[in-house]
Amino acid sequence: MSSPTSSQAAAAFRTAIVPAAGLGTRFLPATKSVPKELLPVVDTPGIELVAEEAAEAGADRLVVVTAPDKSSVVEHFRSQPELEATLEARGKQRLLRKVRRAPELITADSAIQDKALGLGHAVACAEPNLGADEDAVAVLLPDDLVYPAADESGVLTRMSEVRARYGGSVLCAFDVPPERTSSYGVFDVSDTEDSDVKRVRGMVEKPQPADAPSNLAAAGRYLLDRQVFEALRRIEPGAGGELQLTDAVALLIAEGHPVHVVVHRGTRHDLGNPGGFLKAAVDFALQDSEYGDDLREWLGERLNRS
Ligand code: UTP
Repeated sequence: MSSPTSSQAAAAFRTAIVPAAGLGTRFLPATKSVPKELLPVVDTPGIELVAEEAAEAGADRLVVVTAPDKSSVVEHFRSQPELEATLEARGKQRLLRKVRRAPELITADSAIQDKALGLGHAVACAEPNLGADEDAVAVLLPDDLVYPAADESGVLTRMSEVRARYGGSVLCAFDVPPERTSSYGVFDVSDTEDSDVKRVRGMVEKPQPADAPSNLAAAGRYLLDRQVFEALRRIEPGAGGELQLTDAVALLIAEGHPVHVVVHRGTRHDLGNPGGFLKAAVDFALQDSEYGDDLREWLGERLNRS
């Protein structure tokens, strides 16, 4: 039998859960009335970029977990026949393609989290949306943009391959400079035969450099065995009084369930705060055929003035 190809391994999950019910306090006042997942990176909302990543890795459905008043996030994936007809009549083909892109990428459903009781609780809210035959699910935090190194496929595809080989659940890690471990969840790991895959023994939240078990920090991508939902029912509120997804993963590890990380070597952006969001926007704009050249020239001049 041949070894699984990327596309076969990608069938490890069909549904991608995107928790988007947090308060977005770091983005106030913008997030008083606009969900941060709809803020545009150049002209495309972050949620569409995350949906594209999920679809490329083989997901055919997004379940967006939203607060009761944030359903506009899912609306972005509905088609808009009137708008499309207007653009068509005006011959605006490029804009028409942009407007149609999100609904064509993936089907989006919503799950409601009535109260922001934590990321673990948000993921649990999506369980009823899963089919009975789905034994694993992907979770993508929309704050994180994770892009492959130029010669590789996406990290979720690699995570599917790792689940096919080692079973259990697979998380995503990236290298951080030792002095910055206190900003992240940091993995305690041991080596495997694959240089980009480590077995997870545990995780330490925001350790000081001297206490950090490694410099591998958690990125917002998870490929979780369905057993995680059962673990989520058994955990107690943890840090900040919230139900933490990492506590459910820790429970699975303690009970012998295999958990591995793929060490991601590509690009990453943190859209969850204005500073990280600006870097992502500049990075995307510099690569944009319409805005890139002008922005590069202006930035050069602007930096010279400082
Ligand atoms: P964060 O705590 O980083 O995001 O949660 P936040 O709460 O939106 O932002 P700040 O810290 O107030 O600025 C990580 C992810 O988990 C989701 C968030 O929407 C975000 O995508 N989340 C968090 C939920 O869906 N529900 C929760 O109860 C908590």
